[in-house]
Amino acid sequence: MDIATLKQTALAMVASGKGILAADESSKTIQKRFDKIGIQSTPDTNIAYRKMLFSADGVEDYVSGVILYDETIRQNIDGVSVPKYLENKGILPGIKVDKGALDLANFPEEKVTEGLDGLRARLTEYKELGAKFAKWRAVITIGSGIPTDLCIEANAEVLARYAALCQEQDIVPIVEPEVLMDADNTIEVCREVTTKTLKKVFERLAAHKVVLEGMILKPNMVIAGKKCPVQAMPKEVAKATVETFLEVVPKIVPGIVFLSGGQSPDQATENLYEINLIPGSPWQLSYSYGRALQDEALTAWAGKDENVKKAQEAFLNRCKKVSLARSPG
Ligand code: 13P
Repeated sequence: MDIATLKQTALAMVASGKGILAADESSKTIQKRFDKIGIQSTPDTNIAYRKMLFSADGVEDYVSGVILYDETIRQNIDGVSVPKYLENKGILPGIKVDKGALDLANFPEEKVTEGLDGLRARLTEYKELGAKFAKWRAVITIGSGIPTDLCIEANAEVLARYAALCQEQDIVPIVEPEVLMDADNTIEVCREVTTKTLKKVFERLAAHKVVLEGMILKPNMVIAGKKCPVQAMPKEVAKATVETFLEVVPKIVPGIVFLSGGQSPDQATENLYEINLIPGSPWQLSYSYGRALQDEALTAWAGKDENVKKAQEAFLNRCKKVSLARSPG
């Protein structure tokens, strides 16, 4: 493990004014996104869509890194491999390495993320293909009697094992324990669950000797569930989010990059802005958005070549707004 390389990559991922584009939708998820614009996902349509995003002129001013899916990291854009294409633009290529959240046996409604089997060998290959960082997403669901301690523990343990394996190969792990925002819970419940989850995650990371300076945390914001009748204002979300992290995230972690989790692009932008307005955070507070960065561009693109320019404008426009939200004032 080369700690200097890990630190350098982690800092580059959260460089000022930049964040990460999560474009690592699995085959199933990209089809779900394409359903909205009525097109079929195939390797060709997938790369056409992603080329539209990655080739947007000046995207490198707002995007430090892109999380790729296994299919994409092996594809080409204009005759150049996707990782090389991104690197030529000064963007770090990353890779989703988990194999998805599956039902946790004996714990109805709860998930555990799989993908540790063979991970060392897969990481070796991804490194050869050019990956500088990786992502693993754990899913914590809020509901009646859940999350259970067992579910949080099981997910925290695999996140830590994944992170250690990445660092062994000088790949920066993005550690993503996502507390879902879909239920009817209040912001207070989200705060409680997020606190408990992050505490356990950092406990397991320490147990596995993960170097905190060489990782990036990708959490949810502390926010009311989408079905909660009482929605918190951005200032409240920001306050609860920063307070939660100050309580449980070690200062030495270089950056926190939020997921958007189904918030609208404006909501995800506004909340990030308010979060960054609060002074005194020891970490870079940035973004690793999937839907919030892509939704407007996807709609504008609609699967048609003639819409590429319009879609890129929508994409860059959103990237710029989110980038500005990192340094308000
Ligand atoms: P969203 O921003 O759409 O939640 O996606 C981020 C991500 O990478 C989830 O794993």
